[in-house]
Amino acid sequence: MRIAIVGGGKMGRAVAALAETRGHTIHAMIVGSENAGGRALTAERLTGADVAVEFTRPDAAVANLERLLDAGVPVVTGTTGWLDQLPRITAHVERRGGALLHAANFSLGVHLFLRAAQDLARRFAGHPGFDAFILEEHHAAKLDAPSGTARELQRRASAADPARPFAITSVRAGVTPGTHLVAYDGPYERVTLAHVARSRDGFAAGALAAAEWLPGHRGVYTVEDMLFGESG
Ligand SMILES: NC(=O)c1ccc[n+]([C@@H]2O[C@H](COP(=O)([O-])OP(=O)(O)OC[C@H]3O[C@@H](n4cnc5c(N)ncnc54)[C@H](OP(=O)(O)O)[C@@H]3O)[C@@H](O)[C@H]2O)c1
Repeated sequence: MRIAIVGGGKMGRAVAALAETRGHTIHAMIVGSENAGGRALTAERLTGADVAVEFTRPDAAVANLERLLDAGVPVVTGTTGWLDQLPRITAHVERRGGALLHAANFSLGVHLFLRAAQDLARRFAGHPGFDAFILEEHHAAKLDAPSGTARELQRRASAADPARPFAITSVRAGVTPGTHLVAYDGPYERVTLAHVARSRDGFAAGALAAAEWLPGHRGVYTVEDMLFGESG
């Protein structure tokens, strides 16, 4: 496949490196300095690209996604912190008859972890002697907090046990690629479920799998649709 990468940061470079080892061609690598407001994402520049993979910044993603959809390119995005604009982007996908797959976290393990956390919350429901909390840690340069994954963890746990608050604490320090945990702390014991990412390569592999999967689909998808089927 010919893949356009939008964003030449840590994730854009990781996806490009992995794509080449899997026999894909990097059609273009579009970096921040040339792409204010998505202006480099023209039909001419993107002609011949089978799919685009976008990893930029919360304040750049929406314009990038709109421009990529205007150019008729299926888009995989892992940028976090823009999801409040999802209704606007969904309407754009429908207008253009395009395809978008978005994920705040592309690692397979995290999606299994989220399902396990939902099950755990269901089991703790009705046991008020435990206090629950969510903790997420990321490297110092991560711009958004809480992480999209922590918000999703909170959403699912709250859906399974609406009576219990699940406050999120965010730590931004050092170089850690990402840790999420949910804990239930009682007077005599603590139960903890955690996901620890060891490197960015797990995210890059998931984003690349999405880039291989998305062409030929129409509409808005999440990584769960790809991993577990559209019915979840
Ligand atoms: N979904 C997942 O699994 C996952 C995993 C890791 C990270 N993320 C998220 O992915 C995003 C990127 O992470 P990262 O670690 O790669 O960050 P990063 O190393 O800071 O890279 C971001 C890059 O985006 C570029 N950029 C900014 N605006 C742009 C634009 N309009 N067009 C093209 N490029 C632009 C920046 O270039 P300049 O410096 O030149 O502006 C920078 O090189 C973040 O939102 C992060 O939270 C998601």
